[in-house]
Amino acid sequence: MTKPSKSFLQALHGHAQKTPPFWFMRQAGRYLPEYRELRKNARNFLNFCYTPDLAVEATLQPLRRFNPDAAILFCDILVIPDAMGQKVEFREGEGPVLERLRGNDDLVQLKTENVCDHLAPVFKTVRRLAAEIPETTALIGFAGAPWTVATYMVEGRGGTDFSRALAWDAEDRAGFAVLMDKLVEATAAYLTKQAANGAEALQLFDTWAGVLNEDQFRRLVVGPTKAIIEKVRAEYPEIPFIGFPRGADALYGAYVTQTGVNGVGIDRDVNLAFAATELQKHCTVQGNLDPLLVVEGGDKMRAAAAEILDTLGKGPFVFNLGHGVVPQTPVENVIELAAQISAWRNG
Ligand code: CP3
Repeated sequence: MTKPSKSFLQALHGHAQKTPPFWFMRQAGRYLPEYRELRKNARNFLNFCYTPDLAVEATLQPLRRFNPDAAILFCDILVIPDAMGQKVEFREGEGPVLERLRGNDDLVQLKTENVCDHLAPVFKTVRRLAAEIPETTALIGFAGAPWTVATYMVEGRGGTDFSRALAWDAEDRAGFAVLMDKLVEATAAYLTKQAANGAEALQLFDTWAGVLNEDQFRRLVVGPTKAIIEKVRAEYPEIPFIGFPRGADALYGAYVTQTGVNGVGIDRDVNLAFAATELQKHCTVQGNLDPLLVVEGGDKMRAAAAEILDTLGKGPFVFNLGHGVVPQTPVENVIELAAQISAWRNG
């Protein structure tokens, strides 16, 4: 059972809080000078993720700055392809570069059996965090959702138009389904182990869900997400899941009713009244301040945050951004936002 005393977990279990809990996607990262300093200690970014001393410290840094209600494991969604045996590299100033999958022959090379052995350092990080974070702070584990991870595996990098991944699915649906099944299996095993080591909630990042049409969305987002949640819950029946199908637009409704998530992360484009009337009756809503307003700060940030709190704060809600904190964000603005949320009262 989850410990009900943590406000974040209460909210995920459907209970509106007097003051909504908050955390920020990418709350650890380059906007923090202490992160940039810590980052110098690792040979490369994957090595950073696989070194528990560094990953624990990176996770704790934002907690010391503004005391969010949840800590998110410091890691990356691309450790799954790495653990399956695909070549993954993070190049400075360029982002991730993968030796891309070209067709069915390459799928045979992808192994799901050793994923958890390869990711043992991540589980050690989770274990240490569970012991080290403050008592009222919840620990979130995470993974990329299969569609989003598959886009990087097939395209070989970010910033593309997804034409290769979409064409593979269109021309050879059965072949692409094999890739999705492997990702479901590896991701479920990975998240189950995170739960076993102390993660109290799990978030699935589906950053590129928004490029899919309704049929693709049901097959590549809803289906795999539901399958992962069922597999993890076979061992941890109470573990809360948050799904973040960024850009899902009109399909957010299908997502919250069909996947089994306890919470849904909404991006900055989601209308607040729609979220309050159509989504919050089915699950907890998490979001959705525009990260660029946190770069700007001041009255515009305060007004937008107040509108989100006033519209969603009376129901089951977790305050977050509509996407991750960006590197050029002034730290003072993040601290001020945290103070504004903490001072808000429901009713
Ligand atoms: O939220 C957190 O604080 C936890 C850490 C976290 C990272 N990546 C650290 C990271 C999480 C949850 C992620 C998820 C992730 N990674 C996603 C899904 C969420 C999203 O942002 O859309 C995606 C698509 C990735 C893949 C990825 N990782 C890209 C495209 C990049 C390069 C772009 C960039 O911002 O540099 C990364 C690198 C990455 N992941 C960094 C961090 C802190 C920057 C690396 C560095 O420090 O040099």
